[in-house]
Formats: sequence, C-alpha cells, structure tokens
Amino acid sequence: PKNVGILAMDIYFPPTCVQQEALEAHDGASKGKYTIGLGQDCMAFCSEVEDVISMSLTVVASLLEKFKIDPKQIGRLEVGSETVIDKSKSIKTFLMQIFEENGNTDIEGVDSTNACYGGTAALFNCANWVESSSWDGRYGLVVCTDSAVYAEGPARPTGGAAAIAMLIGPDAPIVFESKFRASHMSHAYDFYKPNLASEYPVVDGKLSQTCYLMALDSCYKRFCEKFEKLEGRLFSIADSDYFVFHSPYNKLVQKSFGRLYFNDFLTKPSFVDEIARGTLSPFASLSSDESYQSRDLEKASQQASKHTYDVKVQPTTLIPKQVGNMYTASLYAAFASLLHNKHSSLAGNRVVMFSYGSGLTATMFSFRLQECQHPFSLSNIVAVMNVSGKLKQRFEVLPEKFVETLKVMEHRYGAKDFVTSKDCSLLPPGTYYLTEVDSMYRRFYARK
Ligand code: ACO
Repeated sequence: PKNVGILAMDIYFPPTCVQQEALEAHDGASKGKYTIGLGQDCMAFCSEVEDVISMSLTVVASLLEKFKIDPKQIGRLEVGSETVIDKSKSIKTFLMQIFEENGNTDIEGVDSTNACYGGTAALFNCANWVESSSWDGRYGLVVCTDSAVYAEGPARPTGGAAAIAMLIGPDAPIVFESKFRASHMSHAYDFYKPNLASEYPVVDGKLSQTCYLMALDSCYKRFCEKFEKLEGRLFSIADSDYFVFHSPYNKLVQKSFGRLYFNDFLTKPSFVDEIARGTLSPFASLSSDESYQSRDLEKASQQASKHTYDVKVQPTTLIPKQVGNMYTASLYAAFASLLHNKHSSLAGNRVVMFSYGSGLTATMFSFRLQECQHPFSLSNIVAVMNVSGKLKQRFEVLPEKFVETLKVMEHRYGAKDFVTSKDCSLLPPGTYYLTEVDSMYRRFYARK
C-alpha cells in the first residue's frame, strides 16, 4: 500500500466549558495569569453524564456515519488514553458494541497508555499494520480520548476534555513521511498517576516543562539528522509549512517553537534572519542545562520567532486554546485546528508533529498533505468536524459549577452502584452518555 496515512477525522468535546478569565478571578489568581500567562481562553470538562468511554463512542459513531464507513470495513481499532476507568478491560472493548451490532467482531487492537503519548502509539500501530504483511485490506481506526482534570492549585486551569477518531489507510490526504520519525524516551517523574483511587495526577509542573523542552530538542536534533542523511541537505524550520505541538497550554507551545528557532540558530545560524541572530547571540554560549533555566533566553527566542510562529504555528492553536489540554487528543486537536483554518491551501504542504507524554515518551514525525477524492478530501474532513459550529454550540458555566462538578466526580471515580441524572439536555443529538454504574461496576450508556 502507498501513501498510508489519515483518511478521515472527527472530533468531539463536551459542550460544557468554563471561561479562563472567570476561573482566574474565581481562583484569586492575578488578572491575565491563565489567559496571557498560560495563553488559554476556555476549558471544556465532562459533566456527570460524560466520560472517556462515552466521548469515544460518540466520536466513533459520528465518524462512521458521516463518512459512510461500513463498520465491517474496520480491521483494527486502537485507543490511546491515560484516563483509567478499568485496570483490565480496555476502552476498545466498550467501542466493540458499535461493531458487534453490525456483525463485525474481527478487529485487532487494544489500548495504549503513556500519559499524552498513547494516541501517537495507537496511530503508529495502525499505520504500521496497514503497511505490514498481516494487513487484510480493511481500515484502521484510532481513537484518542481523555478527560484532563487536576486537583485544586496551579495546574487546574490546564485541564480539558475531548475525543478524536482517525481513519487510517492507503491513498490518504494526510500521508506519513515515515522515514523522518525521531523519538526520545527516558525515565522521569514529571507527571504520573500513582494514586489509583484518584483521577488526579501527581505533577511537578516546572519539571514537566523542562522535560518537555528537553525531549523536543532531542527529537528535533534526531529528526534533522535523519532528514539530512536521506535528503542530503540541512533541515531547518523553513522546510516545513507548519509545526504542530502537543498543547498542555498555549504558552508552552510558544516556548517550544522558540526553542526550535534557537536550535536552528545554534546549528545553522545562516538560516535565521539577521535581527533574530542579534537577539539570540547573547545566549549562544549557554550550556544546555543553563539554557533550560534561562527566562531571558525563553523571552528572546519567543520574540525572535514571533513572526514565523504567527505563520507556522498560530493556525494550529484554536482548539487547544478553546478546549484545554486533551492529553492524548491534544496534538491531533491542534492538527484539526490547522485543517479547519487552512484546508484550502494545504495540498503539497509538510507538517511537522511533536508528540509528548510525561514519564516520558516523545516522537517528532511529519505528514505530507495532498488533495483526495470525496469523502476523503481535506475540505470534507473540515466540513464533518464542524469545529466552528461545535465551539459556538457550547454552554459556559460559572467556575462554582465547574468546581462542584469536579467534587461530584471525585466521589464517582472508581465508585459503583449509582445512577446519573441522565440529563442530556445540553448534549448534541447523537451523543452517548452514562446512565448507570451497577453493583458489579458495570457501566451503561445511552445515545441521545
Ligand atoms: N499576567 C500575565 N502573565 C502572568 C500573570 C499575569 N497576571 N501571572 C503569571 N503569569 C505568567 C508567568 O510569568 C508564567 O509565564 P512564563 O512561563 O512565560 O514566565 C505563567 O504565567 C505561568 O505562571 P507560573 O507562576 O510560572 O506557573 P504556575 O505556578 O501557574 O504553574 C504550570 C503553571 C506549571 C504550567 C501548571 O499549570 C501545571 O503544573 N500544569 C500541569 C503540567 C503541564 O501541563 N505540563 C506540561 C507538559 S506535561 C503534560 O502535558 C501534562
């Protein structure tokens, strides 16, 4: 099979959301801390009738219906998630309800978990399967689903929730450039979930930022080396039309792109413009450790890269700023934002992706985009995702209500023997929702 990649996509995020400006005031944070300091506008969260399973059911059913894919045509289904609802039973098996109804139980794949990286692992598994000798000619389907919630404190405004589904196969509009994949994996305690009784992570915020940026540097260096070996010339930011980052909060994305720019400045200074060279030259002699600690360097590289950021990164930031960190779905929601904003001019473009999962696992890889026939055209993917419509149809709730919901969910996490309000009045038609968890912890869902 040739041109293996993403044929179709859909996204779902809960309609319930809280404005960061309101949350800032509610939390007693200084004005501008969440909106300018973290760069976030709004945050989606699951109400008591939604969870990662209901969101994934919603997005899979929607993708199959809107692209008119016969469920029998799916041969592999992989889920990426870090929201643990069951330590044994995979989310994938819940999704099998949709396929069993349609007479298809012959579907490989289970769940992949490592913080925000599980979705990328799932995506690679599906693409590798299509390229392998065990491929049976059917589609792969990847689902990234997460609800990011944090304990009270500085990390709380970096939550979010969403599910994304991606159909994988040959002759795709979004094609993997598989030769340029570069990873960096190591052992770190930056963000982890050792307390199995709680949905909240243990997080060392500052360390997680540094780990993320170090992994980014390492992946970029290897990505450039692989490119140079295969193409026989240097790789610089100019060689990709867009850069898409895992987006815990927008400020980190700004810092990340500044970091790539600084890398280009250090290794191939003639590739960055003269003014930027002047701005960055005072930092050329920093050791790499010092460079992660220097706030002046952070500011200088953000300033030096600002113009290029506006062109190559800003179009990818819409959904992550509006919905928040979606963990495994975050990178792909950023990519969906790019499709939404630029679909008519993307054919022939290269897009570099950076996936990061704490603990830690990271990969930089790239796509080449091309125009394809309906229903797998970029414009049809954008029409199906209907990002503007979904953003407009949301319900802003007050921070008090958001905090109250999180309190309810703290009790519900890992609990049995309860029924939900079954109130689906805020959910769009076609949305799955949780109705009951019985005395055997079995979960039941209905569809609006
Ligand atoms: N106006 C404008 N900016 C402000 C204001 C204000 N009133 N107040 C603070 N800021 C800025 C700060 O200067 C800082 O910006 P800078 O980094 O550019 O200097 C920013 O707001 C954040 O403030 P801090 O005090 O540095 O950090 P805080 O204690 O609020 O914590 C953190 C932020 C660490 C990101 C926290 O939210 C967190 O732990 N989040 C979860 C971890 C995370 O997402 N890590 C990312 C990778 S791992 C993953 O994906 C889960």
